Amino acid sequence: MCGIVGYVGQQNATPFLMDGLKRLEYRGYDSAGVAILDAGRISIRRAVGRLSALEDSLEKAPILGKPGIGHTRWATHGAPTETNAHPHTDDSGKIAVVHNGIIENYQELRAELTAKGHRFTSQTDTEVIPHLIAQELKDGAADFLTALRNALARARGAYAVGAVFADNPDTVYAARHGSPLIIGLGENEFFIASDVPAILNRISKVIYLNDGEVATLTPRGVRVFSLDGTEVQPEIQTVTLSAEAAERAGFETYMLKEIHEQPRVLRHLLEKNETLGDEIGLSADYFRKLNRIMIVACGTAYHAGMYGRLLLEQFTGLAVETDLASEFRYRDPKIDPGTLLIPVSQSGETADTLACIRMAREWGCKALAICNVPGSSVVRESDATIFTEAGPEIGVASTKAYTAQQMAFALLALHIARARDTLDDEEIAECMIDLRKTPDAIHRVISRKESIKAVADKHHDGPSSLYLGRKFNYPTALEGALKNKEISYQHAEGYAAGEMKHGPIALINEYLPVICICTKTRDEVYDKMLSNMKEVEARHGRIIAVATEGDQHVKGIAEDILYVPEIRDEFSPIINVVALQLLAYYAAQARGTDIDKPRNLAKSVTVE
Ligand code: AGP
Repeated sequence: MCGIVGYVGQQNATPFLMDGLKRLEYRGYDSAGVAILDAGRISIRRAVGRLSALEDSLEKAPILGKPGIGHTRWATHGAPTETNAHPHTDDSGKIAVVHNGIIENYQELRAELTAKGHRFTSQTDTEVIPHLIAQELKDGAADFLTALRNALARARGAYAVGAVFADNPDTVYAARHGSPLIIGLGENEFFIASDVPAILNRISKVIYLNDGEVATLTPRGVRVFSLDGTEVQPEIQTVTLSAEAAERAGFETYMLKEIHEQPRVLRHLLEKNETLGDEIGLSADYFRKLNRIMIVACGTAYHAGMYGRLLLEQFTGLAVETDLASEFRYRDPKIDPGTLLIPVSQSGETADTLACIRMAREWGCKALAICNVPGSSVVRESDATIFTEAGPEIGVASTKAYTAQQMAFALLALHIARARDTLDDEEIAECMIDLRKTPDAIHRVISRKESIKAVADKHHDGPSSLYLGRKFNYPTALEGALKNKEISYQHAEGYAAGEMKHGPIALINEYLPVICICTKTRDEVYDKMLSNMKEVEARHGRIIAVATEGDQHVKGIAEDILYVPEIRDEFSPIINVVALQLLAYYAAQARGTDIDKPRNLAKSVTVE
């Protein structure tokens, strides 16, 4: 969603702002703008569409000056027009603000300010902020920082804010409440940004602003205050990511790079967490006494949660439920302190997932997050975290974060099984042997990408496709369908194969690609999948199977086969999904979509 950058230093701000905004492009946006201090006045430039439009405009008529703030806007209140693009100003044009989040009481504030003579030019909620600050100054606030604090104290909702004030021409102001914002500390230069990858090439130390904090950045340094004006000592953290981690490294897209990174990511996760211990923050005794687990997440992370539920149920004997965070938060679930909440999130900033953590806290439950971003809100608000350590995921469609979440669930399930004595040492050791096979198995799937591409090229142009799977691979079917629709814009539906006869079978005809996940299993699910495929075949559906190398039964039924190495049932989804990621990828490529930045999507959904 919206991206924020800001620069304070000795150089002209424009190149830094544009570079940072480009690195935030993956968050999703439909307009962009900058505000730069230039000889004691604020110059603003905004443009609709891709950043190249803003870049062209700044090339034709450059703005020289410093410091500055920049923004990519993902429209919520008001269409993506130049007038609605950030930065927004007060009537005098001396205050400029960029904002990520939603000011829920903006209509009420706008009416009040309009009555006091303020003139609004946009349809956004954001525009109330510079006007509120201006009003605070008019009403006698001692300085800009006080006016900003007072203004924000009146705003309800979520915000990350960057601001500049023409009368304080060396300062960038920042504030956070519920939407992410970090401060980067470079060599004699300071930055604000929505996330670390935006400024990774310029800094090695960061401050993660806490909710309810405001900061001033000047060439002399950074100061942080709470909303009541008390100065606080910020914790400075060292960034361990390398700048290259956020580059494309020769791949045509970030998504393809991230698909290829999966063997390395999983190997790392296995090495680091092979014996998940008390260091995850919850003791063996806690897990022994636990009576229920509730997993909450959105999108791809929800599919990982569905898979996690099956593993946890099988290995630990606990009652486990998975729900969409956006649904769970409005339910009336019977949760008590004997329930562990597991929020799963790549970004750690998803609004609905965060809301569930806050609810769980009220019920006295602990939250154990599975998250990819250190310092993110999900991590900070949970009692403990298993970090997926997949590195920055820039492609909007999640790939390596998903398989890392699956691996985190496998390790956690084995850890809890050990604590509760539901698996013996030998069984756990056997599972670990199989888990350690997954990175090489994924590597093998990726090495067949040309044959997967050939299948995608053959089937990409239909209006729709159906994905079927059972048990451990039902979430795989959902995830495969989600990947396909996200990046290729082809309608795709994921279904539990057993449900096919209850409705979707009506869709099957000689044009519909039906992707069947039918890898070999020890239980009856494999035979049931074969029967489902026969039913599709009988209706002339075009079957693309994900099957185990050497499988002869599937060969006789499917039109095309994506082969994957054999592995224990429980861990097959970690491998099978990679074939579907590549299938979606090449379908999108054939359909000519913008794979890394699919239309309308935001990487991190920070509003409800
Ligand atoms: C994944 O491909 C999606 N872009 C999306 O569904 C994503 O998984 C979802 O928005 C949750 O995000 P999070 O993991 O950052 O919480």
